[in-house]
Amino acid sequence: MAEEPIKGEDEQLIDPIANRPGYEETESQIAILGHPIHAMSVSFPVALTFCVFGADLLYWWTGETFWARAGIWAAGTGFLFGMLAGFSGTAEILLVSGIRARAAAWTHFIIAVTLLALLGANWGHRLYGYETAVLPYGILLSGLCVIMVSFTGWHGGKLVFDYRLGTSKGN
Ligand code: HEM
Repeated sequence: MAEEPIKGEDEQLIDPIANRPGYEETESQIAILGHPIHAMSVSFPVALTFCVFGADLLYWWTGETFWARAGIWAAGTGFLFGMLAGFSGTAEILLVSGIRARAAAWTHFIIAVTLLALLGANWGHRLYGYETAVLPYGILLSGLCVIMVSFTGWHGGKLVFDYRLGTSKGN
């Protein structure tokens, strides 16, 4: 019996999304002298999210009020800097056609918005008594935020280093 030719061997597969106008336009528009504001601002919420968890662990261990106060400040500033990072990222996804066209950018948006909701909840919960808030719900929320910020940051890195989103093509 004659062997059947492998289907699609000579076929040109066409990705309709890749044919959209502006698909190749992926350079950051929300930038200062070509340096993307989103990439610059994400370090703050990432670091502060880890700080809240650290402060909660130290409060649990020592019982010192200082760590509960450090926790509420880190949670509040982490949330506010996270919102700033979120606004620059949202402007980027809406304004840059090549970023807007890629599903991976929208995946990052969904993970990041979930993170922002958790950061807000973690701060809001502490506003009604920052010391009593830590155990158990404060520290549980902080742990969840650490997991979510790790996903968000790792995925954001993929957008830049794998998909080359936000980067200039060079000369
Ligand atoms: C809420 C809406 C958000 C959108 C739409 C968004 C979108 C983007 C986009 C398009 C990039 C590619 C680089 C660029 O074009 O600037 C990126 C990178 C990144 N994002 Fe977001 N982002 C959001 C929120 C966040 C948040 C809240 C965090 C972390 C707290 C975060 C962490 C990152 C990281 C770490 C990178 C890689 C930066 C680099 O390595 O240079 N993003 N994001």
